[in-house]
Amino acid sequence: MSALPPAPHAGGVPLDVIRDDIRALHAYPVASAQGLVKLDLMENPYGLPAELARELGQRLGSLALNRYPPGDPAEFKRRLGEWAGLPAGSALLLGNGSDELIHLLVLACARPDAVILSPAPGFSMYRIIAAQDRCRYVDVALRPDYSLDLPAFLAAIDLHRPAVIFLAYPNNPTGNCFARSDIAAILDAAPGLVVLDEAYLPFAQQTWMDELPRRPNLLVLRTLSSWAWPARAWDTCAARRRSSTRSTRCGPPSTSMSSPSRRSISCSAMPRCSTPRPRRSAPTGAG
Ligand SMILES: Cc1ncc(COP(=O)(O)O)c(C=O)c1O
Repeated sequence: MSALPPAPHAGGVPLDVIRDDIRALHAYPVASAQGLVKLDLMENPYGLPAELARELGQRLGSLALNRYPPGDPAEFKRRLGEWAGLPAGSALLLGNGSDELIHLLVLACARPDAVILSPAPGFSMYRIIAAQDRCRYVDVALRPDYSLDLPAFLAAIDLHRPAVIFLAYPNNPTGNCFARSDIAAILDAAPGLVVLDEAYLPFAQQTWMDELPRRPNLLVLRTLSSWAWPARAWDTCAARRRSSTRSTRCGPPSTSMSSPSRRSISCSAMPRCSTPRPRRSAPTGAG
């Protein structure tokens, strides 16, 4: 990337302390949809039923919002895992929206020269987050019918040895599910993590969640956006337990929260590790 001109001081703030590559980024564009039903964003055009809104208000009002949520909301995760069909031996990682979980996973793998690999066209945040976390982003063009070009994808895996591969299932923006046999071949060939991003699960009606016990490098990402509640309380990422506990170490202590007072949480599922790992040391200060 070419060097930027010296950053101006804004109101006395020296902007040149901000990384050049971050200053060169553009904000994620969100087009105005005034007067439209935002089906592409999976927004529910109908508000909450009055009775549900009342009950929600009562429950929110009774929460201890003056307290930090528990570091490990075990009961919440248990019930969420039950609802999401989390297989035995897997664990959940919760986050503020899938975007945060994508960021945490990439950050956890962001060694110098780490590569993030994904098909193109694909969800634009994979590229943006890779840049923010200083990883190299590589994409492989889909075929004209939007299927994966498996030989090209496997060649890219061989060449770049990606730390993380993102496959949205169904893919955004093309809307199709890639062939399961192609995804299985990618899981077999990948030297690192493979994230099946099931943000649009309701359109797929099939999941990779059941494969978690057999696939140590698989992570499944889910978001409540896809249940038409984008202002929801949480989202999730699922994987075998070892991967989830390691990614958690990149997040703030309250990331795996249970409180619906935060804007959103994402969840990912991962395989369970037989040996308990030492816990991250408890935070000593507030914030
Ligand atoms: C494939 C995909 N994954 C993740 C997300 C982000 O979801 P969230 O709203 O939970 O951050 C989106 C949102 O557009 C998406 O299209």
